[in-house]
Amino acid sequence: MSHVPQQAPDGGLRHLLSLDGLPASVLHDLLDRAQVLLPDAHAGTALRGRRAGRTMCTLFFETSTRTRSSFQLAATRLGMDVLNFDVGSSSTRKGESALDTLRTLEAMGVDVFVVRHADDGAVAQLAAGAAPGTHLINAGDGRASHPTQGLLDMLTLRQRKGRDFSRLTVLIAGDLKHSRVARSDLHALRALGCGEIRVCGPANLLPGEEVLRGCRVFGDFDQAIAGVDAAIMLRLQRERMDEGLVPSMEGYYRDFGLSPERLALAAPDALVMHPGPMNRGVEIDGAVADGPQSVVLAQVANGVAVRMAVMDALLAG
Ligand code: CP
Repeated sequence: MSHVPQQAPDGGLRHLLSLDGLPASVLHDLLDRAQVLLPDAHAGTALRGRRAGRTMCTLFFETSTRTRSSFQLAATRLGMDVLNFDVGSSSTRKGESALDTLRTLEAMGVDVFVVRHADDGAVAQLAAGAAPGTHLINAGDGRASHPTQGLLDMLTLRQRKGRDFSRLTVLIAGDLKHSRVARSDLHALRALGCGEIRVCGPANLLPGEEVLRGCRVFGDFDQAIAGVDAAIMLRLQRERMDEGLVPSMEGYYRDFGLSPERLALAAPDALVMHPGPMNRGVEIDGAVADGPQSVVLAQVANGVAVRMAVMDALLAG
């Protein structure tokens, strides 16, 4: 990965490429901004002039529903011009590189690029080639990082459990190996001082020791979920897997699916979280996903405010 500093010497954010290495103060500042912006994120009128004249472009080389739509809404709420670049019908199909595409759009006056790409480190590489004053936001690169998802997950936890993460036991369960969400959640939970981080999944879907640094690793889901304050369930990412890693969906659900019976082992007020899209009946039971402890749609709603906060912070710098 190209090493592009995401913070200026004064600590202000130039890009948001990863949560790795960002201190708790920066994370809390972004979450505080998002919390303040939340009413306007939903009402959508009060801040229309806040970043008027600035332009955001979504540059998605992979599919998305939540991230792309919420960035579009977030930029609109801030009064920005929005360019939803369609990679599929663009000159990338004629072989134009991602960097030449970015520079071309930069020349049209784009200030903020929100980029999703299949390759680890691709967004940092683009940031290294961008003009000074252009801001890049990583909307998910390969398995490496999904920082705004990490932030919205932390905002959801903080709203319901308070700012003191040291009191919390949080479980991340499922296909951690292929998950950029898991990596960004781990970066954030560590930085915020989470009391205990547990991870659980089939041995062949767990990443290496470096990713799991400081975590309690479980192979047995019933033991992993016992008493936790929140369970972050991960999508089984079949599109990123080699054949045969998961022999049967029924077997996966039996061993690692979040059923109502398993949820009953967690703390009584435990939160059920999932970044979406969900495989109902595979990693999570539909009744749990739609049940009273689920905050899945609150996570989605927080995504708009978090993305407003990130763009606002970048443009303030
Ligand atoms: N959570 C998430 O990144 O969802 P999308 O792929 O729909 O953006």
